[in-house]
Amino acid sequence: NVTILRTKQAVKSALQILRNSQKTIGFVPTMGALHKGHLSLVENAKLSSDSVIVSIFVNPTQFNNKEDYEKYPISIDEDLKLLEEKGVDFIFLPSVTEMYTGESLLKMDFGNLDKTLEGSFRPGHFNGVGVVVSKLLNIVKPDKSYFGQKDLQQVAIIKRLVNDLSFDVEIVVVPTIRESDGLAMSSRNVRLNPEERLTATILYNCMFFAKTELLQGGDWFEIREKVAKRFYDEPKARLEYFELVNTDTLEKLSTIKYQLNISICTAAFIGEIRLIDNLSIV
Ligand code: PAJ
Repeated sequence: NVTILRTKQAVKSALQILRNSQKTIGFVPTMGALHKGHLSLVENAKLSSDSVIVSIFVNPTQFNNKEDYEKYPISIDEDLKLLEEKGVDFIFLPSVTEMYTGESLLKMDFGNLDKTLEGSFRPGHFNGVGVVVSKLLNIVKPDKSYFGQKDLQQVAIIKRLVNDLSFDVEIVVVPTIRESDGLAMSSRNVRLNPEERLTATILYNCMFFAKTELLQGGDWFEIREKVAKRFYDEPKARLEYFELVNTDTLEKLSTIKYQLNISICTAAFIGEIRLIDNLSIV
């Protein structure tokens, strides 16, 4: 039986009872429009925490594009049903005014971590993410909080945030859940028309191609040229970046280094919809 909590005070009272009886709390922050990727975070939380709380809050401060915010999919009734089926204990569903009393002045700077990749195309995005995740962690005070590898840069930044500000929480990272043709699950996928939905597999296909070539000794810049050409030949797709990076520091690389965690990160527009994805190499 799931309880919906709409205020910070309600969260505090509800979770205090659990903490007093030594129950561990697992927290899954989301922006709703839930899919199997989100539900995989919930399943992981259920496995390793006594009680699970999911937040649904479309955080306005992390959208650098007004239209992206206004068109962000909302399916709250369906979301509540899915979470209830999964056996979630609490859902935190705050309003914008419950989360923000007026303009938020704090600016978070994560050095290189928020300047590269998404940060260079979405100015202010990670400041918004850093602030809202800090607020949510302070409200919920979970033992563990679950994040998807799908948002690799978000994971790197949140790990850093938690360490730098000594948040007393363990960050658990969950693998990316994909459709059968490789497309990473994303709330924005519902905005793709049928033709774009087919085209959208180009992100995963190109990463898979690049990974295979790299592991066979291919030259990164030549591989990337071939990928760029594949995007160029696809009128519905527009590549923003395709980078080989150190998964932890996000530094750009041009060769595989076996002692590092390495990933390919990409972002592309399919029609009007901007998608991101990543694939680990080693
Ligand atoms: P949202 O995009 O709703 O994603 C919520 C969580 O689900 C994130 O940790 C994200 O990485 C994870 N996720 C999304 N797609 C996934 C997939 N295909 N497989 C596995 N996990 C997936 O990320 C956010 O919301 C926001 O930035 C938030 C952290 C809630 C702060 O507002």
